[in-house]
Amino acid sequence: MQKLIIQGGTRLCGEVAISGAKNAALPVLCAALLTTDTVKINNVPFLHDVTTMLALLKKVGVVIETTSDHSETVLTATTLSSLMAPYEMVKTMRAAILLLGPMLARAGEAIISLPGGCAIGLRPVDQHIKGLQAMGAEIKIEHGYIHAVAKQLKGTQIVMDIVSVTGTENLMMAATLASGTTVIENAAREPEIIDLANCLIAMGAKIHGAGSDIITVEGVKSLHGATHNVMPDRIEAGTFLVAGAASQGEIYLSGVASHTLDAMLDKLTEAGAIIQLGDNWISLKMNNRPKSVDLRTAPYPAFPTDMQAQFMAMNCIADGTAIITETIFENRFMHVQELKRMSANISVEGNTAIIRGITRLDGAYVMATDLRASASLVIAGLIAQGETVVDRIYHLDRGYERIEDKLSQLGAKIKRSS
Ligand code: EPZ
Repeated sequence: MQKLIIQGGTRLCGEVAISGAKNAALPVLCAALLTTDTVKINNVPFLHDVTTMLALLKKVGVVIETTSDHSETVLTATTLSSLMAPYEMVKTMRAAILLLGPMLARAGEAIISLPGGCAIGLRPVDQHIKGLQAMGAEIKIEHGYIHAVAKQLKGTQIVMDIVSVTGTENLMMAATLASGTTVIENAAREPEIIDLANCLIAMGAKIHGAGSDIITVEGVKSLHGATHNVMPDRIEAGTFLVAGAASQGEIYLSGVASHTLDAMLDKLTEAGAIIQLGDNWISLKMNNRPKSVDLRTAPYPAFPTDMQAQFMAMNCIADGTAIITETIFENRFMHVQELKRMSANISVEGNTAIIRGITRLDGAYVMATDLRASASLVIAGLIAQGETVVDRIYHLDRGYERIEDKLSQLGAKIKRSS
């Protein structure tokens, strides 16, 4: 198992470039299934989840040419040799569920392993299934697989019971080739959905309302090839901003979509950070010990659940007491136990954590449990006294490109060891 070894106590200072968004790249890569033409995707981040997704798309027959760091990836789904996403690939990357909608729309059939749960929650996909059934798909669930069949999906009105990011993405992709118009109500509003819609529109899809809670898709006969640049990763950007604030440093992020971080920037300002921003850059300066900030996660544009663990690390050493309420996932406090091993003062009541700020964390040997919990432990290690070892960092590599290189650029004393 690879580990990160961190010597705490340095203020992070300097500039770092933000990579393409994992949660935009994954659905955009699946969109290539919707056409037999070539789709060129740029600014794809070099992440383990992307490598897995490319392997899965290759397995179903997509011809893929990609640079060594995946930054430029060309996909051509002329013919599909298989309509199955097998369990052994889906279990390591839940986003494989995003093959369901486009494959069903394009090929009339899809056999996708149920993703199963993960560390942070049960992660059901009932909304994906309900929406596709409303569009006329026959769906059976047996032996752990979703078997969907639909000669021709039909446009319809769908009201999602719960706001679901990939649920919205699956239904939006499926609707592009349905006969008639589909209206998705109670749709997720995340920026990654707008990015996917922009890619689909470039491919000839007729989509209105992406980014709002009502998305209208007018089905077309076929889609054609296109070139799309993946949007910057707002969660990677937020993670570096929190690391800069928690370490009382001064950092400059380039290549960032600064308008997609409003809720996070509000909270960082409340913690005492001085923030300046332009269209594609953000600078942060933290002159004093952060103030505690209360957080309540909720669907975009509210505070993102993917930033909860990172802010908790900053709250551990902040001045005051913070209340963090996690409303999206039922088990997204796995980092609490590990932070407490570093002397953090945290108590958890249901989906609420109470963090009493202390002046200093102690370095310790800690275990990563899921992607964003790992980021939280790295931030804690950067601001702790002494050495921290973060084990099982394969979780981290799923969502952060070369995090130790980027943090070293900011002056962190951090290295990877196996
Ligand atoms: C996406 O997951 C992201 N992943 C997650 O990022 C992110 O945390 C999450 O959205 C919330 O913003 C990708 O985009 C690949 P949901 P997703 O469907 O789509 C319940 C990361 O760290 N639900 O929006 O799987 C679900 O249990 C990852 O990068 C149903 O009940 O999340 C959860 O409580 C982690 N039925 C809530 O909705 C469904 O059919 C939101 O889940 C679908 C979801």
